[in-house]
Amino acid sequence: MPDKVTILGFAGSLRKNSYNKGLLRAALSLTPKNIEIVTYDLDDIPAFNQDKEGSPPEAVSEFKKMIRKADAVLIVTPEYNYSIPGVLKNAIDWASRPFGDNAFRGKPVAFMGASTGRIGTARAQYHLRQCCVFLEMYPINKPEIFVPFAKEKFDENGTLKDKETKERIRELLEALGAWTRKLKTG
Ligand code: FNR
Repeated sequence: MPDKVTILGFAGSLRKNSYNKGLLRAALSLTPKNIEIVTYDLDDIPAFNQDKEGSPPEAVSEFKKMIRKADAVLIVTPEYNYSIPGVLKNAIDWASRPFGDNAFRGKPVAFMGASTGRIGTARAQYHLRQCCVFLEMYPINKPEIFVPFAKEKFDENGTLKDKETKERIRELLEALGAWTRKLKTG
């Protein structure tokens, strides 16, 4: 029986009815055996100030602790102006600092995202992959989950109803679990 993998998931939107929060909730309900997902809400993370990186706000310390405790990370990103939202970048910047205390270092990571547009966050996710180089994270390559025209994929309660997307999320979690076990055993 393969080891249990714990994944920390967070979504880069503060919006109450966020489609990306909806995707993360869907992942929670689709988690395969031997994988556990815990989530973190970015609401309480203030704007980054390098003067404070040595003694960060409590929410940031908690976020970093949860990243370190997890075996892998799942980032669910909206797309803002062809890139990742400031809220998400801000949280990543906090967790990567101060220099030498980057909580993301060495973590396997997977991405997914939903947008109301036709490209489904592909451009944002490729910017996120670029950040992972400096962060020294290890992204899985496939599957890629770009959810376009999000309005059509969720019901009125914000629950993902699209069958194909659900299947891809299952595949993504399986792939992240396998990748994490592989990196652990070398
Ligand atoms: C957007 N949106 C958007 N969509 C897209 O496909 N590409 C883009 O570049 C942008 N840019 C953008 C900028 C800003 C500032 C906002 C507020 C929105 C639309 C976006 O996909 C939509 O608002 C989603 O609903 C945002 O994700 P959540 O909050 O539902 O998770």
